[in-house]
Amino acid sequence: MRNPLHALCPYFAMFPESFAEKHIGELTDPGDYVLDPFSGRGTTLLQSLLMGRQAAAIDINPVAFCISGAKAAIPSLDAVIKELAFFEDRFANYSLDQLKLERAGLPRFFRRAFYSTTHYQLLFLRIHLNWRENPVHRFIAALVLGSLHGDSCNYFSNQMPRTISTKPRYSITYWSAHKLWPKKRNVFEILKSRANYRLSGELPELVGRVAMCDARQATKKFPFLTKKIKLVITSPPYLDVTNYEEDQWLRLWFLGYEPKPTYNRISKDDRHTIKARYWEFLKEVWQGVAPLLRHDSSLICRLGAKGIKVPEITESFCSSLKEVFPNARLVGNPIISPLIKRQTDVFRPGSKGCLFEIDYHVQLFPLA
Ligand SMILES: C[S@@+](CC[C@H](N)C(=O)[O-])C[C@H]1O[C@@H](n2cnc3c(N)ncnc32)[C@H](O)[C@@H]1O
Repeated sequence: MRNPLHALCPYFAMFPESFAEKHIGELTDPGDYVLDPFSGRGTTLLQSLLMGRQAAAIDINPVAFCISGAKAAIPSLDAVIKELAFFEDRFANYSLDQLKLERAGLPRFFRRAFYSTTHYQLLFLRIHLNWRENPVHRFIAALVLGSLHGDSCNYFSNQMPRTISTKPRYSITYWSAHKLWPKKRNVFEILKSRANYRLSGELPELVGRVAMCDARQATKKFPFLTKKIKLVITSPPYLDVTNYEEDQWLRLWFLGYEPKPTYNRISKDDRHTIKARYWEFLKEVWQGVAPLLRHDSSLICRLGAKGIKVPEITESFCSSLKEVFPNARLVGNPIISPLIKRQTDVFRPGSKGCLFEIDYHVQLFPLA
């Protein structure tokens, strides 16, 4: 059965856990180390831990760090429920005037996105969750991110997609045209019920490591993993497809960032519109990861791109690797999967997104 923790929070361009499971099963043994330098929602990390492998992950985006981190050091259900009860109690005695003032100072989007009392609860949690340091708080923050926007009674917002945060002006126009108003939701109740569900599956015994940094800093962040990694399973930001900072702006706001979409302020490298720079970036990532790899390590890499054909992607991908791993060898043919229409496309009418994904399996043979 699918572990409910995988879907803790939806994420754009996430790969399914079955993808990670297959390669971890085929290419590693229990106890081996697996790394994902572009962790996203932490699929590789959680699946590795569930299969008894040691796991490390990196992502530059605080949203990805929070979700992956919640899966790396999973608190007990008891600890989460206790902390939520504690917060609920404190909220009941908290100054509503202060929260009202905060709400009034935010852009109009927020008043149309969240029912007033729902928004006060979110504002309160936003101030009090120490998600950077405290694993229980991080887990609760990840639960909030997973329910922050969506399209059913499990979500806090007016109707929005689950994966990306639509832009304020687009959202307001959409809600006005469809006469949509936010519904009253009890954040604490939803979080308790979500925690019960998410923590109802088997939990890993191992604890993973997650760093919030540029993938090129892998060795600096994890020097103790030098020559330990047996398998890298990853999916770098797709070429010219999305901007994770802009598309996650509402979740970023909840984590303490600005109440509006920002572009390349937190993560400078997540949308490469210039091909040559993109492949150079990937080469630098392989350089940053290489010292951590075992002599018999493999890379499973899923790529997506816009406006570029498969043979060119394969050639450029292989050259980005060859400069760092001269003996690298592709195993089998790349696997190309066309992308079926996704929820995000509905909210970006007319946009030409990524049409296919390509999976590569590479034997790396890092130099000693
Ligand atoms: C295609 S997504 C990975 C999705 C992931 N496989 C999953 O299942 O959720 C790419 C990720 O790379 C991250 N990213 C972009 N630039 C980065 C950089 N320079 N260093 C580390 N992570 C970066 C983005 O924040 C995003 O989470």
